[in-house]
Amino acid sequence: MESSSINEDGTANNNINENQKIKQSQEENFESLNPQGYAKKEYWNERFEHTDSNFDWYADWDQLSKYFIPILTPDSKILMVGCGNSQMSNQMYLSNFKNIINIDISGIVISKMKEQYPNLNYIEMDATKMTFPNNKFDFVIDKGTLDAIMCGGDPNPPFE
Ligand SMILES: C[S@@+](CC[C@H](N)C(=O)[O-])C[C@H]1O[C@@H](n2cnc3c(N)ncnc32)[C@H](O)[C@@H]1O
Repeated sequence: MESSSINEDGTANNNINENQKIKQSQEENFESLNPQGYAKKEYWNERFEHTDSNFDWYADWDQLSKYFIPILTPDSKILMVGCGNSQMSNQMYLSNFKNIINIDISGIVISKMKEQYPNLNYIEMDATKMTFPNNKFDFVIDKGTLDAIMCGGDPNPPFE
């Protein structure tokens, strides 16, 4: 069933597929009741398989840049943990913070991001089993990834 409506400002609202809305709402309910999925690679691969748009969890570079710009330099070596399909690394790159390595447990999103941003570094890697040498980075940015891992409810989290 399709529905259409007029926005408050008088512009036409795009047709919204009611079934899609119901499915999305069911998925959101499922996720809020079963957040353990957030800790699983399979969950994220499935989710990223079905989306080609970008999304920034919690906050984006426009909101966060005022906190980062005073402490970063163009030489800063930055690790973006669990980058997902966030645009923040590209926005940082465009702001002259180019020394960023992005990792994510989902090979699907890493492939997509490599294709979208060929100038940036994307590596498929589990944040709990990283293979970087000690002291490789000056800054580590985590936006939502530790939260996702902790959703797994592991009584013995794989980090200190
Ligand atoms: C809530 S999303 C946040 C994505 C992005 N940081 C942002 O701010 O939009 C969590 C991300 O963490 C990734 N992730 C989950 N567990 C991970 C792990 N053990 N190692 C690396 N990435 C992981 C997921 O694939 C997903 O992209």
